[in-house]
Amino acid sequence: MTAPAGGRTPKHKTVLMCRPEHFTVSSTINVWMDPSRPTSADRAVAQWQTLHDAYTWLGYDVELIDPVAGLDDMVYAANGGFTLDGHAYGAKFTYAEREPEGPAYMEWFAANGFEVHEPEHVNEGEGDMLLSNGAILAGHGFRTSLESHDELRRIFDREVVSLRLVDPRFYHLDTAMAILDDESVAYLPAAFDEASLGELERRYPDAILVDEADASVLGLNSFGDGRTMVIAQRASGFERQLRERGFETIGLDLSELLLGGGGIKCCTLELRR
Ligand code: ARG
Repeated sequence: MTAPAGGRTPKHKTVLMCRPEHFTVSSTINVWMDPSRPTSADRAVAQWQTLHDAYTWLGYDVELIDPVAGLDDMVYAANGGFTLDGHAYGAKFTYAEREPEGPAYMEWFAANGFEVHEPEHVNEGEGDMLLSNGAILAGHGFRTSLESHDELRRIFDREVVSLRLVDPRFYHLDTAMAILDDESVAYLPAAFDEASLGELERRYPDAILVDEADASVLGLNSFGDGRTMVIAQRASGFERQLRERGFETIGLDLSELLLGGGGIKCCTLELRR
């Protein structure tokens, strides 16, 4: 692939996704979820397919894990683990509803070329762990435990930067911040405690600061290859900010999956063999 004149150069991406055949909302493990509101697995699958197609169109390799009946949230593949340098750190979920997903994803990693590390501490995978310029940004406060950040250090021998989340709407790091490329990120300042915010300001003086309106449609829950960001189409302000910086954008409607409290990035687990 060649970048357009003046454009950015994309990095090839390989991602793992899970078709939401069994998607529904039957509990309230985050503030977005309301089991009394009707959901449609068909609509979830159709919207998820648009994300799958966008990734394919962008030239990504998309790998699939089989959905398991009864695991409503398995579509949110980002939570299935964290992979880097051929190693996969397994997830250990906070809530019983998602607990069986941990072993299901670890089995997939083992069968697909990763050295698997069973987690000792509660952690929800890439939902709370984002790779930025070689360092791992790791969230805590709602789901992933601070103890798991030490496990991460031991397994991957990388710098791990702990960031504390404080707003229950943005309970995973990938709902509060987006990786744009090796150097840049976007985030919602109010989603972090003061010390974490200071850390972000020091590390990323040029970050895109996203507003409440865009964050509230999970606009930050986005994924890209350094050239094109796939984002929630309702996050129009964020889209403008990205375009001003020279990124291409693809806007999608994943509103059905938002009923479970997840968006584009939640449905995406990056595979780094
Ligand atoms: N219902 C899921 C949960 O509460 C949504 C997970 C969203 N995933 C994410 N990476 N933010 O666990």
